[in-house]
Amino acid sequence: MYASARKPYRGISMEGRLATWYAKITRKDLGEIGRLAQELAKDLPRAARVLEVAPGPGFLSVALAKLGPYQITGLDISQSFVQMASEYAKRESVKAHFIHGSASDIPLEEGFFDLVVCRAAFKNFAEPLKALNEMHRVLKPGSRAVVIDLRKDASWDEIVSYVDQLGLRRMSSWMTKMVFKHTLLKRAYTVKQMESLAAASDFKSSEIIRNPVGMEIRLHKPPNVTEERLREGDKNEAVKLGLDMERGEARLVT
Ligand SMILES: C[S@@+](CC[C@H](N)C(=O)[O-])C[C@H]1O[C@@H](n2cnc3c(N)ncnc32)[C@H](O)[C@@H]1O
Repeated sequence: MYASARKPYRGISMEGRLATWYAKITRKDLGEIGRLAQELAKDLPRAARVLEVAPGPGFLSVALAKLGPYQITGLDISQSFVQMASEYAKRESVKAHFIHGSASDIPLEEGFFDLVVCRAAFKNFAEPLKALNEMHRVLKPGSRAVVIDLRKDASWDEIVSYVDQLGLRRMSSWMTKMVFKHTLLKRAYTVKQMESLAAASDFKSSEIIRNPVGMEIRLHKPPNVTEERLREGDKNEAVKLGLDMERGEARLVT
């Protein structure tokens, strides 16, 4: 459950038939989702803990689960999607755990995940800054978050060619283009707005890569310097820093 009194998403809730329609359309994107999973898996440690914020039908989480013995959690505000994603993981015989909750108030412990990923959902969050801060909180120091979303300045031509390559039927294709034009683009952020949001968040900065209709926002939680140094076994340095080596904590030695 989430504690915030505000509606945690913008627009209408993605439950029931809307969730089913969305899953059907997004299935056409499985190729791109698979490539994204491969990219993300490149730098992941074995048995990494991954959190997907707003996984919807769970396609990316499941694609990642197929690539390694990762511990995958998906958190979504839609009960329909939590159920749909859990069933999909079961059908595909992979381990991924989906829970209900809000990006504004992630009901998971601090410093736990090696990667947080969020695709095609960030613009829907009612409290984007809180969502970024929550992603930062649950990440282990030295780990990263990747947010992938539509760019507000994507041109109509870019949107048409993106939707056309999905190979949808005529009616679905038209509906999808209308949803992009009248809803999604209105909610989306520009690169500059995303940069400002990231700068105001606990991440402090970001690296943003533009792609045909969207952008990939890369966010890093800096390593805990004292822990890193301790791991390197630089006892002299630790003594200089006044650290308690036995406990491995940044505690002043008196
Ligand atoms: C357009 S779908 C994207 C789903 C999936 N990430 C994908 O790539 O297909 C947007 C998702 O955001 C979820 N969502 C919206 N607001 C949320 C919030 N505050 N916390 C968690 N999930 C949220 C919706 O329930 C939905 O699953």
